[in-house]
Amino acid sequence: MTKRFYVTTPIYYVNDVPHIGHAYTTIACDALARYKRLMGYDVSFLTGTDEHGQKVENAAHANNETPIQLADRVVRRYEELWEKLNISNTDFIRTSQERHKKVVQSIFEKLEAAGDIYLGEYEDWYCTPCETFWTEKQLDDGNCPDCKRATQKLKEESYFFRMSKYQKQLEEHIANNPGFIAPKSRANEIKSFIKEGLRDLSISRTTFSWGIPVPGNDRHVVYVWFDALTNYLTGLGYGQDNEKFDNFWPADVHVIGKDILRFHTVYWPTFLFAAGIKPPKKVFAHGWWTVEGKKMSKSLKNAVEPKLLADTYGVDQLRYFMLREVPFGLDGDFSKGALVHRVNSDLANDLGNLFSRSCAMVVKYFDGVIPEVDQITEKEKELIAKKDEVYKKIETLMESLEFSKALATIFELVAMANKYIVEMEPWTLAKDEKMTARLGTVLYSLLDIIRIIALFLYPFIPDSSLKILAHFGVADELKKDELEYDCDFGGIVPGTKITRPEILFPRIELKEEEA
Ligand code: ME8
Repeated sequence: MTKRFYVTTPIYYVNDVPHIGHAYTTIACDALARYKRLMGYDVSFLTGTDEHGQKVENAAHANNETPIQLADRVVRRYEELWEKLNISNTDFIRTSQERHKKVVQSIFEKLEAAGDIYLGEYEDWYCTPCETFWTEKQLDDGNCPDCKRATQKLKEESYFFRMSKYQKQLEEHIANNPGFIAPKSRANEIKSFIKEGLRDLSISRTTFSWGIPVPGNDRHVVYVWFDALTNYLTGLGYGQDNEKFDNFWPADVHVIGKDILRFHTVYWPTFLFAAGIKPPKKVFAHGWWTVEGKKMSKSLKNAVEPKLLADTYGVDQLRYFMLREVPFGLDGDFSKGALVHRVNSDLANDLGNLFSRSCAMVVKYFDGVIPEVDQITEKEKELIAKKDEVYKKIETLMESLEFSKALATIFELVAMANKYIVEMEPWTLAKDEKMTARLGTVLYSLLDIIRIIALFLYPFIPDSSLKILAHFGVADELKKDELEYDCDFGGIVPGTKITRPEILFPRIELKEEEA
């Protein structure tokens, strides 16, 4: 049976241009998607843009644009960035698309038919940056309890969703599915939020028009979070391509930032309960980045524009840094010093040198022709055993989205390969003609372990991994993305001709870049 996997990023608001926070979520999902493909899964990987709502409408007006003009302009920035960062999404959804409007309206109608939507009136406090209503009691000194910004009092006719009706079902779902909210440490804040009592939720607005009309009453537009969350269904062809939908739903994981956990673990599953659709298997909330120790602000965002970072330091360098530096789930600080240090020490020194030294020795001692293995000794067996151990560990760590640990584990193998060179002293073996067969075994073993390291690293740094694999003449099948991990020792064909490779990860001189 085909194994399938569905992973999603949040859809990003178009009132702002992409920053490293957006890049982070998307790179993490990409690593997961690529890993699952290597493991033989058919993967659906959805990202996109959240284009409706008051916030976007306000931003457009402030810019003398219509909301769709703003969206058309900003969406290009996202699409270009994902291409640049080598993101392998299988679809890109814009909530302004007709296919999405149909799904949102059909889910709305489903909930209405189930008796879970009613027309009422609310008088509450609204935080536009968060697109969220608060009761007077919930406010923090008059301000939004989440972002601390000012709220406005709104009194409006509105459709309500009977969220209160699903409190017990949600509590049971969370209790019975310990993997639903991840990391585990985040579950408590949601449990206590629910415990305070779920109120019915206003799911339409009448004070602006940039949204999807409520079916049968187009004075109302659908609440932007109802609209946005539904994207995860649209992206699988809900109501249009039943086979695809049934194959991939429920989603294996929605990856999000910690700021939007409540929407994904309270609102979203209750909407789905009401629509008779299974909730996603997992919602994983990662932490937030600060920049050089400070909260990201408009001016700081410019300084860490992901495209600029990728142009300056390299795409794989950026991908590697973000996933290696901070355990996924915790907050972290983005600094150029830390990035440069990571790249130089792990990628340039440990991995880059291993690759170039090993190839150089094959060129020097065997005229660039990859030698055959003669007799495997205990030393090679140790390397092979370590790569088997790494393979298994990665499997567990990727399951729990522990990217940083997975990378650290792969680099244990890199370190072991470097140590193997020092211990085997190929330069000494080369001096003794009787040792040629042994030298061949050592160099073949090194190269093939490097090939396997490149496979392990492929989900994280796909371009560099492909360069390594291409150098050994084994990249073609991986390019098709069809290969199940061939991590058995012995994948390189002896006799393959290689040259001295170009430097994979040039050292970054901090002084130079500071200047
Ligand atoms: O919330 N560090 O969109 P958004 C890490 N449209 N990640 C960060 C970050 C930071 N400093 N800042 C933002 C929305 N993010 C809604 C989502 S989903 C149905 C609708 C990331 O453009 C993080 O993933 O504000 C966060 O969840 C996402 O950007 C929010 O992007």
